[in-house]
Amino acid sequence: MIVALNNKCNLTKQEFEKYLDELKIIDTNHLVILCPSHINIGQINIDNVKVGSENVSKTNKGAYTGEISSEQLKSYGVEYCIVGHSERREYQKETNNDIKEKILRLLEQDITPILCIGESKEERENNQFKDVIKEELEIATSELTETQKEKLIVAYEPIWSIGTGIIPTNDQIIDVFEYIKKFLPTSKILYGGSANLSNINTLKAISQIDGYLLGGISLKVNDLSGFIKIL
Ligand code: PGA
Repeated sequence: MIVALNNKCNLTKQEFEKYLDELKIIDTNHLVILCPSHINIGQINIDNVKVGSENVSKTNKGAYTGEISSEQLKSYGVEYCIVGHSERREYQKETNNDIKEKILRLLEQDITPILCIGESKEERENNQFKDVIKEELEIATSELTETQKEKLIVAYEPIWSIGTGIIPTNDQIIDVFEYIKKFLPTSKILYGGSANLSNINTLKAISQIDGYLLGGISLKVNDLSGFIKIL
């Protein structure tokens, strides 16, 4: 199983050092990918934890103040990168075309993109969720070769689940996962959105899930350790 940790905009330098000390103790054979706030990336030093990123610039190096390129990420040992998280789509107004460019930049550096997709509460209620997911997948992968598509990891994160404590039913998750597989039959698919200790036993019954993208629980190492044990 893949366990991707999305720290978001959390943890100061000192807090991150303490966090790494706690994280080191988790003993697991699962693939753990830590995606910290960019400023903490260089501090990751745990043997069985892969280095990930929460974001990448859609441009290569140059006069782009405040951006971080895929080449720079690569030089810090980054092997995976989240792209198209709903928070970036909402607050930074990232479009599907921006996300397509970011995926291309990552693949140029042989960094595996973790493409986040998912519908809002309103889109779910209006039964538009498959249209939204289709558009997100089609545009993001429109310039990829078949071999490049195989490298993508997809994270299905319904926006109404992120940080809310609400998760979809198992049938709803399976329905979307089967739909994603029609576009990307060989991609690993993660579930993200309020996955935690109280619902992991329910989620575990879904054989289609290849792993999880964890936000809130990524910051609580005791809970995270329990979560990984149940996996
Ligand atoms: P959450 O966040 O686990 O806190 O819901 C998941 C995510 O945003 O990736």
